[in-house]
Amino acid sequence: RTDATTDHYEITQRTADLHILDDAATPAWTYGGTFPGPTLVSRSGRRTVVVHRNRLPRPVAVHLHGGHTPHDSDGHPGDAILPPGGDPMDAMPGMAGGTATPGRPVTGERAYAYPLDQRAATLWYHDHRMGFTGASVWLGLAGFHLVHDDEEDALPLPKGDRDLPLMIADRSFAADGAFRYPALDRTLRRVPGVTARYTDGVRGDVILVNGTPWPVHPVPRLRHRLRLLNASNARAYRLALDPPPPGGGGLVQIGGDGGLLAAPAAHDAIDVAPAERFDVVVDFARYRPGTRVRLVNRLATGPAGQVMAFDVAGTAARPAEDATVPARLSDVPRHDPARAAVTRSFLFQNTPDGWHINGRGYDPARPLARPRLGDLEVWRLVSDAHHPVHLHLDHFQVVSRNGRAPGPYDGGWKDTVDVRPAEAVEIAVRFTRYAGRFVFHCHNLEHEDMAMMADFITS
Ligand code: C2O
Ligand code: CU
Ligand code: CU
Repeated sequence: RTDATTDHYEITQRTADLHILDDAATPAWTYGGTFPGPTLVSRSGRRTVVVHRNRLPRPVAVHLHGGHTPHDSDGHPGDAILPPGGDPMDAMPGMAGGTATPGRPVTGERAYAYPLDQRAATLWYHDHRMGFTGASVWLGLAGFHLVHDDEEDALPLPKGDRDLPLMIADRSFAADGAFRYPALDRTLRRVPGVTARYTDGVRGDVILVNGTPWPVHPVPRLRHRLRLLNASNARAYRLALDPPPPGGGGLVQIGGDGGLLAAPAAHDAIDVAPAERFDVVVDFARYRPGTRVRLVNRLATGPAGQVMAFDVAGTAARPAEDATVPARLSDVPRHDPARAAVTRSFLFQNTPDGWHINGRGYDPARPLARPRLGDLEVWRLVSDAHHPVHLHLDHFQVVSRNGRAPGPYDGGWKDTVDVRPAEAVEIAVRFTRYAGRFVFHCHNLEHEDMAMMADFITS
């Protein structure tokens, strides 16, 4: 539904049987009965209101990942939607009797209002329930939310059925077809053997793209825009085309988490950590008709090394707007780290007591930063292992890695950056407009659930 100022959506979160496998149904938690959930589409600057009704057996919280969203609607893990009849103590497990919870749980439904005062970008929405985000997302709570704007519409980029949002997510299945997740409660955190086994998070051996295992997509010999989203809990991918097109550089990146890059960047492979988005253009006219072009993951062998495939059909006439990828895409004004008002350091560490930031697990009573709106800040992220670090509220720019220039996948506006073992990554961020409580955390969802998260409070 749409009116003069606002686009409205309603989503009922409910269980549903998915038909992912040939021979068995998969019971799932869904946004409206499907996985991924419905793709929401918004115009930059136009308000979108999404009413989420919770008919699942557990609390939920909905986060628009990459959204420039006021605290009220950001899906802070404390702001749960309890199912009708749900127990409010269920909303903040582990917090009961301890610190006063910052959250405002509601029962039944919540209206999330998104101003979307931001540029065109590939956003996604997913569950953010305190302590159970990994399980909820694994069971199906994730979907795309695309934002369009005039600047991007005016560019000659592939549109319509040649603009493909691709949600890549690994899963494993039990013999009866159910999603197999090692724990649906906090025992994952308490049993030492299990904790050790899932130090790297939970991975699956089946790769789903938009909910289908290893799909094959027929394509005409034209450019296609692939909006690659790694919605996996913990698996990272090094995506490449196999075979590569003659001359290489088959993945022409045009955008990242926060929308268009200044100029396209051609890659042979792209490293995609959990939650990152890479918008790429692939020109299938570089292949002969009849070629099967596989999108592969060079970080895995066997089935987990295959993602999907494109079958290149016969010759198609190139429409005028497909002639080239524009050499200039957008303005990306650089944040100058020398002008930062504040520099903060955060150490991401797996300790015998849990997954910690600056020596402690998530504690809403102890926010780790109080940024002033409008100030430029430099955050120095230091890590003992791979931690894809995600900030809510505003996009940032990568300034350096270990004191050297940012890497090949660090371009443009980002909201998630993979901090690698023994690495220090500096990012520059300016929080704007919305005062309140937000989170930043590791987007390895098992690390997040095991408390590698902290609040920051803007004012
Ligand atoms: Cu996509 Cu706080 O997360
Ligand atoms: Cu987010
Ligand atoms: Cu982590």
